[in-house]
Amino acid sequence: MKIDVLSIFPDLFTVFLERGILGRAQENKLLSVEIIDIRTFATDSYGTVDDYPYGGGAGMIMKVEPIVSALESLDNSGKVFLLTPRGGLFTQALARELLSKETITLICGRYKGVDERVRDFVDGEISIGDYVLSGGEVAAMVIIETMARLLPGAVSDPASVKGDSFENGILDAPNYTRPRVFRGKEVPSVLLSGDHKEIDRWREKEALKITKKYRSDLLV
Ligand SMILES: C[S@@+](CC[C@H](N)C(=O)[O-])C[C@H]1O[C@@H](n2cnc3c(N)ncnc32)[C@H](O)[C@@H]1O
Repeated sequence: MKIDVLSIFPDLFTVFLERGILGRAQENKLLSVEIIDIRTFATDSYGTVDDYPYGGGAGMIMKVEPIVSALESLDNSGKVFLLTPRGGLFTQALARELLSKETITLICGRYKGVDERVRDFVDGEISIGDYVLSGGEVAAMVIIETMARLLPGAVSDPASVKGDSFENGILDAPNYTRPRVFRGKEVPSVLLSGDHKEIDRWREKEALKITKKYRSDLLV
């Protein structure tokens, strides 16, 4: 799958894209990510991408022409999404849905946001939560990282993804590793029993308990 990202700060993605599952997914050709610098599509030689708001008021607005020119420079933009607090909430389910697309394009806003007319060129709008970031880059990273983890073959043991929070509509079960005893707190004995059926039952029960305690809304 291919993810194109339009941003005025492409270097923010450099290290992010090289590391861990994301780096390996690209090496193994499961995923291709291209960051397009909106500034190179500015209409002047200064690379201006923002301007004062019509009607006055605080803050600068991202201009429509560089964003639309950047979009139109793509051979195949696929489905285009604007990252904005106004959008539908990004969830694990939406990540899975987006995975079925061959290509998606994410537009990162900055400043006070984008000129409203950019919205005529997008297929959807995505928010990563009810708070305001300074730019869409972190939101794009959240989306890319979540999707990369779900790509078949990206995580070496697919069972690890299957047991993740939200994959079965509930939260993950508690996990432990060595040492067996830490400051008097012992790992639950069932996990040392070697009885995998019993361990699965315990994990299921604990995952439900945790979901009831922390996110009972998931159970209704
Ligand atoms: C400072 S914000 C603009 C916020 C805008 N004035 C508002 O109140 O809705 C600049 C950019 O950050 C990105 N952004 C901020 N919060 C976001 C969120 N919760 N989800 C996705 N993108 C977000 C958007 O691309 C936005 O254009």
